[in-house]
Amino acid sequence: MEPNAALSRPPTRGVLHPVARVDLEMTGVHRHRQRDDERALGLLKETVHPWVKIERLRCPVELRERGLKELVAGVRGTRHLQDGHEGRRLAAVTDADTTYMRRALRLAARAAGRTSPNPLVGAVVVRAGAVIGEGYYHAAGEPHAEVNALRKAGDGARGATLFTNLEPCAHHGRTPPCVDAVREAGIARVVVAMRDPDPRTDGKGIRGLRAAGIAVEEGLLRTEAERLNAGFLSRLKRGRPFVLLTLASTVDGRVAVPGRRYLSGKAALREVHRLRDRNDAVLVGIGTVLADDPALTVREVKGRDPLRVIVDADARTPPTAKVVRSKDPQRTVIFVARDADVRRTNKLRESGVLLVTAPRADGGLDLSAVLRWLGEHGVNTVMSEAGPHVAGALVRGHLADRVLLLFSPVAGGDGPPALEGVPTASQLHDVRVRKLGDDLALEGALG
Ligand SMILES: NC(=O)c1ccc[n+]([C@@H]2O[C@H](COP(=O)([O-])OP(=O)(O)OC[C@H]3O[C@@H](n4cnc5c(N)ncnc54)[C@H](OP(=O)(O)O)[C@@H]3O)[C@@H](O)[C@H]2O)c1
Ligand SMILES: [Zn+2]
Repeated sequence: MEPNAALSRPPTRGVLHPVARVDLEMTGVHRHRQRDDERALGLLKETVHPWVKIERLRCPVELRERGLKELVAGVRGTRHLQDGHEGRRLAAVTDADTTYMRRALRLAARAAGRTSPNPLVGAVVVRAGAVIGEGYYHAAGEPHAEVNALRKAGDGARGATLFTNLEPCAHHGRTPPCVDAVREAGIARVVVAMRDPDPRTDGKGIRGLRAAGIAVEEGLLRTEAERLNAGFLSRLKRGRPFVLLTLASTVDGRVAVPGRRYLSGKAALREVHRLRDRNDAVLVGIGTVLADDPALTVREVKGRDPLRVIVDADARTPPTAKVVRSKDPQRTVIFVARDADVRRTNKLRESGVLLVTAPRADGGLDLSAVLRWLGEHGVNTVMSEAGPHVAGALVRGHLADRVLLLFSPVAGGDGPPALEGVPTASQLHDVRVRKLGDDLALEGALG
């Protein structure tokens, strides 16, 4: 948790009463004028179950970090049961283990887009109902999450519980195995959400901990943990990255409007840039490069640029395209066919981009070969921002795992339908709908 002076002041009023006893149950709370309410709300939201909607605090409440821990302890306490508040409201409040695991997941997610080819991992060390250390894996080559959390906990880790979304590693990589660090720190119990499918660990971490006399529980929030690391799991199990397909569409299902540079409004555009920051790579077809000349960088939010991937069988990408003339052309990969024009491919190569050949297939290149290459080169997650032809080919080839459609309130669009040539109905699951400015975001899983 970041230090925050406002939060480290002792509470002037009770923390548990207004927050845990009433507000968490009533949820719709009002008349709060505390200067730090945003921060306090943020902390609360991180701590409680997502079903509990916290909008406002009822009265001035200052949360210190300790206050927050008391709050968690208070919420899960049996007092509610004794008060006769069983039932729906109570069910919405998490038990303590789930809360800490959720925290580990949230910490892990902070590094989305930075850890590939490795997974996202967060860790929380808890002793006597208090968080004494937490951390996450920041980037490939950096210390592992468990090590960061244990370092913060120091000697306090002796006899404590460690929560982590992924089984601690059992192998020597760039850093020594976390299993050893956990054992040496004197941790008594480890709660892991899921096993690490990496064959070098896969169960060995858990067995190693048990052999050292540490109690291990496995499977808490497994589904959430698998969703968080869908890219890493996809690369390990299927040999290709997880693919999110995004498309902006008019209400009549078209992807362009004559004379309009961006179909989406500012809020939807910001969401696209946020996703670029969190995905390892962004993929488009040559059709999009020629029509829009996108830079495929992150500008609307703070973040880092993804790897840019273009599928372009005949090497038609102009050397003047923004993806080629970027400040780091080596972070642009252009897939071409083996028989692409040599003069054109040479010219592109000279400009510093990486050219990779792929077999031709219906409509262009073999996209499963493209994705396999990316997987082999450590790419866990890909976001397609391609036009209807590549988007349609990804769906047809069962290569799209998730779809995000951004509907603009415009009718009378231009060009082919958003997903071109999808022959059979493909059902989206777990659909989520959001409003982003005036646009409507519809998102769901495929397959
Ligand atoms: N609304 C949006 O979200 C959005 C996003 C992107 C683009 N657009 C619009 O979409 C239009 C461009 O559409 P588009 O469909 O031509 O763009 P695209 O899907 O990005 O590019 C299509 C091109 O990619 C190449 N390609 C390589 N492998 C392919 C495969 N397996 N299947 C299909 N194509 C493959 C093909 O050219 P080769 O055969 O030469 O390789 C194909 O012509 C523009 O009007 C653009 O503004 C809209
Ligand atoms: Zn490790």
